[in-house]
Amino acid sequence: DWTAAHFISETVAALKIQLGDSKVVMGLSGGVDSTVAATLLHKAIGSNLYGIFVNNGVLRKNEFEEVLEIYKKLGLNVKGVDASELFYNRLAGKTDPEEKRKAIGTSFIDVFDEEATKLTGISYLGQGTIYPDVIESAAVHGPAVTIKSHHNVGGLPEKMKLKIVEPLRSLFKDEVRKIGAELGIPASMLGRHPFPGPGLAIRILGEVTPEKVQLLQDADAVYSDLLKKHQLYDKVWQAGTILLPVKSVGVMGDERTYEFTVALRAVTSVDGMTADWAHLPYEFLAEVSNEIINNVKGINRVVYDISSKPPATIEWE
Ligand code: XMP
Repeated sequence: DWTAAHFISETVAALKIQLGDSKVVMGLSGGVDSTVAATLLHKAIGSNLYGIFVNNGVLRKNEFEEVLEIYKKLGLNVKGVDASELFYNRLAGKTDPEEKRKAIGTSFIDVFDEEATKLTGISYLGQGTIYPDVIESAAVHGPAVTIKSHHNVGGLPEKMKLKIVEPLRSLFKDEVRKIGAELGIPASMLGRHPFPGPGLAIRILGEVTPEKVQLLQDADAVYSDLLKKHQLYDKVWQAGTILLPVKSVGVMGDERTYEFTVALRAVTSVDGMTADWAHLPYEFLAEVSNEIINNVKGINRVVYDISSKPPATIEWE
């Protein structure tokens, strides 16, 4: 019978045999998979696991600090690297979604490479790959058309001659969550919505600037806090705000405003492959709209996305 406790003890024992005194480097994302994988590795080899968590400048508000704090509480040996400036420089002038993805993917690899090569005696690269990733990656590399490219750590394994260790390779997401709970990872971390690797960069339509990131971080924080306050957060698969590249006229007091529009997105789904727009209560949407417009300077209009996937996608880019 499969139980989380059983999986943990077997996997940790197997990792101890496989890895011995080897050192493992791993990129952590703040997501469920990499956190659970790192915690298992930590149980097996302790501080021989070297985690690297990169601030790409397009994380959610306060996410870098909050996630590092959770890693610290879990006892993980993780270095936080704030590379926001580098990412903003590489994103400057780029408006095409795939070019933005590529800029973020290659910047991540560059930062990770630089940090990893500072470490000596590393022989493994740890990854939070789960079973659906294995399937998807087979599909992506086959004849299927890549609709949106997903990034991963690129040429490092060959360059540093690293072997790969992926303790979650046989698991589905719900199993990963159960193992995470058994490992003492906080529910707030395990229940987080999926968040794309390119982060808020693909929720800012057109060019990404630090000013726009801050606007969207603030709007996103209002939305996400209210979803939690009204017990709606766990009822949707994913939710977020999108900054549209248009300004429109509004009125605030007796001043005319000319500011940006934010779109709210929330979907229900089982796997992200298809999704329905979430029928959130009107009163709730009204509260989110008021809170964003009254508190986030630079936004004077909020709209709700009522498109399902297909034919729309969950993200706007
Ligand atoms: P779409 O927009 O294709 O998204 O309906 C499906 C799921 O994938 C996530 N997504 C990404 N995740 N890198 C990622 O790591 C990406 O480039 C990327 N694009 C979309 C999206 O958030 C949703 O959960």
